[in-house]
Amino acid sequence: MRQPLVAGNWKMNGSRDSVKALLDGLKAGISTVTTAEVAVCCPHAYLADVQASLSGSAIAWGGQDVSIHDSGAYTGETAGSMLTDFGAKFVIIGHSERRQYHGETDQQVAEKFSAARKNGLIPLFCIGETLEEREGGVMEQVIARQVDAVIEHCGIAMLGEGVIAYEPVWAIGTGVTASPEQAQEVHAFIRARIAEKDATVAEKIQILYGGSMNPANAAELMAQMDIDGGLIGGASLKPDDFLAVCTAANR
Ligand code: 13P
Repeated sequence: MRQPLVAGNWKMNGSRDSVKALLDGLKAGISTVTTAEVAVCCPHAYLADVQASLSGSAIAWGGQDVSIHDSGAYTGETAGSMLTDFGAKFVIIGHSERRQYHGETDQQVAEKFSAARKNGLIPLFCIGETLEEREGGVMEQVIARQVDAVIEHCGIAMLGEGVIAYEPVWAIGTGVTASPEQAQEVHAFIRARIAEKDATVAEKIQILYGGSMNPANAAELMAQMDIDGGLIGGASLKPDDFLAVCTAANR
């Protein structure tokens, strides 16, 4: 039985004041609402605040990207060791916004996956097709290519040490959610693809759904057999909404 995981992706939002208010709201509600593991992935500028607030709580935290390098002349980047220095457990890898706006390739994402593992971080490895790819009938090829890149670079055993987040690009920040059936179909495809290499890893790995998940649609999505939780954008910025999504993850 896979434990559900609900992770918030705050993206580039917040201030020290709003972060404090959000975390106070989450801490006040979290223990009573869910059996899922819960985490927030904050802007790196707020890692120290998040660590100070969440240490000793039931909520884990993480970063939103990691460098493939250990240290050195890489302006603006964050090393995995810097994230763990602030107690991070998770790091988002290959989010479609990084693929789209920063030109991250499958190969770079795979290198980031291994950089995260080298530092003991659990990668939240994001994959997903664009609307054009879905409508053009190449969705499965795209998903397979994204997954295979990590398997080829890191090996199937290391893939199994991470978490996959299926985030159809057309559902991110649009208010358009994949239907439970659409999402389940892709999650099952991802699991089957992994099972071709290793059935045990396929059975064990958590596959989260992301893309306009909110209190109104979370329960139905997370009731699907192969959906093991969510990666939540907009709704993770409001304590009540995020807690409601965490409640919906109860098994
Ligand atoms: P939204 O929940 O705002 O659609 O964002 C999803 C996402 O990109 C999480 O990583």
